[in-house]
Amino acid sequence: MRANPFVYGKEVSGENFYDRKEDFGMLVSTLAGGSANVVLYAPRRYGKTSLAKKALEELSRRGFRCIHFDLMRVESLPKFCEAYASSVYALEGGAARAMRRIGAALSSLRPKFTLGNDGKPALELDLAVQPSAGTVEEALDLPERLAHARHPVVVAFDEFQEIASLSPTLPLEGVFRSCIQRHKHVRYLFLGSKTHMMERMFADRSRPFYNSAAIQRLGLPPAGESAAFVASRFASAGMRAGDDAVQRILALSGGIPYYIQALSALAFDAAAARGRADISVSDIDAAAERLIQSKSDFYETALQSLSTAQRTLLAALSGGPVHRFDTKFRTAHGLGPSSAVHSALAVLREKGFVESTSRGHEIGDPLFARYLAAPTFQLFPE
Ligand SMILES: Nc1ncnc2c1ncn2[C@@H]1O[C@H](COP(=O)(O)OP(=O)(O)O)[C@@H](O)[C@H]1O
Ligand SMILES: [Mg+2]
Repeated sequence: MRANPFVYGKEVSGENFYDRKEDFGMLVSTLAGGSANVVLYAPRRYGKTSLAKKALEELSRRGFRCIHFDLMRVESLPKFCEAYASSVYALEGGAARAMRRIGAALSSLRPKFTLGNDGKPALELDLAVQPSAGTVEEALDLPERLAHARHPVVVAFDEFQEIASLSPTLPLEGVFRSCIQRHKHVRYLFLGSKTHMMERMFADRSRPFYNSAAIQRLGLPPAGESAAFVASRFASAGMRAGDDAVQRILALSGGIPYYIQALSALAFDAAAARGRADISVSDIDAAAERLIQSKSDFYETALQSLSTAQRTLLAALSGGPVHRFDTKFRTAHGLGPSSAVHSALAVLREKGFVESTSRGHEIGDPLFARYLAAPTFQLFPE
């Protein structure tokens, strides 16, 4: 038996990556053409980072210099300045000229250039100094100052909605927007997984980023492509998954790439451990139970963080997507008046537990929904 052919929990590429041809084409052509910056958003685990990195690879081949910067990685504004300047610096291969420019631009943060653990030049800033709006602008302007017409830069900001919590005092959205607007040789890709926040940021007239980028919402891969991928990955490792087992994976995963790969990986391991070369529907059900088990602490903590109304609404959504919370639905699930349901919904969307799409309002993690819908589950344990 060969090694597990499924990968989950980190971005994927090569043979572990399927579909997304249209989205990939759009991303690459818009960014390469330079007609607009792009926002790509979707709930967590749909495959944004994987797709963006693939697009950046293609753009690098075409002569662009690319930065992928994950805002989830930085917990404070000084750290942002340091990490962002380092990313730009790395792009320059540690060239002395770039170092002098970066040093001058960020002089208020007392930059030091050192050798990183990997032997590459690294940048350290004095993290005790709170950057001013001007310093943040200097950091953001670095790629523009170092780029030139022949080698434009593409910057992908991953989990971009996190800028909202990076500084309690500076209006960062406005600072980012006014800098980025000035840049002639840098194109931007904004990725985000808190869909509600991203929509407001880019589609609300009163916000700085309104109308500033082409909006691309990443959907689920078509079921047919997902099914073909799963069957062929099992086959590539000498394991046969029948059509009914593959369909079960699609149903339990809600078609979301992460859960497709996670369920497949767990079913593969269990079958391989028993020396079997075929996967059945019950193997998939067992994999789902194991995945839920492994996340149950997380689910419990999440529930504890919610109010009674929010918890009740979440449980009411565990049966599947809901379009309207009419009187019948509210009564059946012990929900309060419509206004209370909608404020609970707003919090659940803000926290990323519930997604609102053309299918209706639904729990984003299909296994969380399954956990909540289990007959043994108690919404309010004694
Ligand atoms: N195109 C794809 N093909 C196969 N699996 C994918 C693909 N995109 C995502 N995945 C699966 O989903 C997981 C999460 O992908 P990632 O790109 O990190 O999503 P996001 O950035 O949207 O949270 C990956 O670890 C992988 O298991
Ligand atoms: Mg991601």
